[in-house]
Amino acid sequence: MTRVFADRMNKLGTETAFEVLAKAKALEKQGRDIVHLEIGEPDFDTPSNIKEAAVKAMQSGYTHYVPAAGIPELRQAIAEYLSKSRGIPVDPDEVVVTPGAKPIIFFSILALVEPGDEVMYPNPGFPIYESMVNFVGAKPVPMPLKEENDFSIDDEDTAAKITKKTKLIILNSPENPTGGVLSKGNLENIADRIKNRDDVFVLTDEVYSQIIYEGRHQSIASLPDMKEKTILLDGFSKTYAMTGWRLGYAAMQKDLAQKVTQLMINSNSCTTAFNQMAGVEALHGSQTEPKKMVEEFRKRREVIVSGLNKIKGITCKKPHGAFYVFPNIKSFGMESKKLADLILQNAGVAVLSGTAFGAYGEGYLRLSFANSVPNIEKAIKRISDTMKELKPQARAA
Ligand SMILES: Cc1ncc(COP(=O)(O)O)c(C=O)c1O
Repeated sequence: MTRVFADRMNKLGTETAFEVLAKAKALEKQGRDIVHLEIGEPDFDTPSNIKEAAVKAMQSGYTHYVPAAGIPELRQAIAEYLSKSRGIPVDPDEVVVTPGAKPIIFFSILALVEPGDEVMYPNPGFPIYESMVNFVGAKPVPMPLKEENDFSIDDEDTAAKITKKTKLIILNSPENPTGGVLSKGNLENIADRIKNRDDVFVLTDEVYSQIIYEGRHQSIASLPDMKEKTILLDGFSKTYAMTGWRLGYAAMQKDLAQKVTQLMINSNSCTTAFNQMAGVEALHGSQTEPKKMVEEFRKRREVIVSGLNKIKGITCKKPHGAFYVFPNIKSFGMESKKLADLILQNAGVAVLSGTAFGAYGEGYLRLSFANSVPNIEKAIKRISDTMKELKPQARAA
């Protein structure tokens, strides 16, 4: 057969959540009732002031191309927000607006990483990191997030993995899929190890920075001398329940911002104009709704964690941020992927295998609690019943 696709496509990974969603939808088509705990998006509606701002912008002419790096009002609003929330001076020229936060991962890796470079990243972690590192021919160097470390990174291990070839260190806090957060100590350790390295960058993915249940969010960009080395990624999808709008951004040193803008010109031209005006309203308008969402997530966290811990054989740590739990299912002696499939087929609950987030996710499942309390309770009951029915050999080991 003639070769059709470019070789590089073999190196590109995917996001299993979308595949599981498709399987769950197929079961629903057959008449099955499925509880969706697979997809990572708030179940709330986008606050109405934000939607109204988009409609107003559309009606007043924001329907054409706008500057590739983002409209000046939004870059200004983002710079002010980041300066205030991270305690560092951010200039609008350092901000690039993209269709969702995800393209920033793509663009910064394309702009910085050469084949053969090493890129450190959390594992289990958002699968796009490893996928993109492989895509550009670099070497993925996992930083394992272990349950015994409360799903944070291990400082010694991290230090040992920084080599002459390290080009980029990817951090994510609060973390998808574990709900772990990085402490100031973790961040200081990394900052200290790379303080004399002008050739190492940090991509800090902070899309869950507002969804945190204890303490304050810490950013490596806020540490002395770190801003210049950091790509600070954030967005609107999670905080403002705007996943379908596709609106994200990052702050980075100006030279790099220009390169990322060039990638925007080559791929998207610009981010949707009226969405950007909605982004201005999101940042300038009332923060009551997003705060209410976090309080609701906090209640659901209690329900899901206590429910899972009551199921014999499952143990579940309380996540400190984001809206995911990462229960340990090792006692069933089954591969995570098989168990996730079985839970979908038998219990009608869509969950993800921990391995959807990398090899270090084996032995775990990821459940999103961005769903109502009654649905979470229904899911727990169904999972509990299914686990009881598991054959003894499946429970062994
Ligand atoms: C850690 C992390 N980073 C980035 C993203 C992408 O966000 P967006 O929808 O704004 O592209 C997600 C989405 O699930 C995520 O979990």
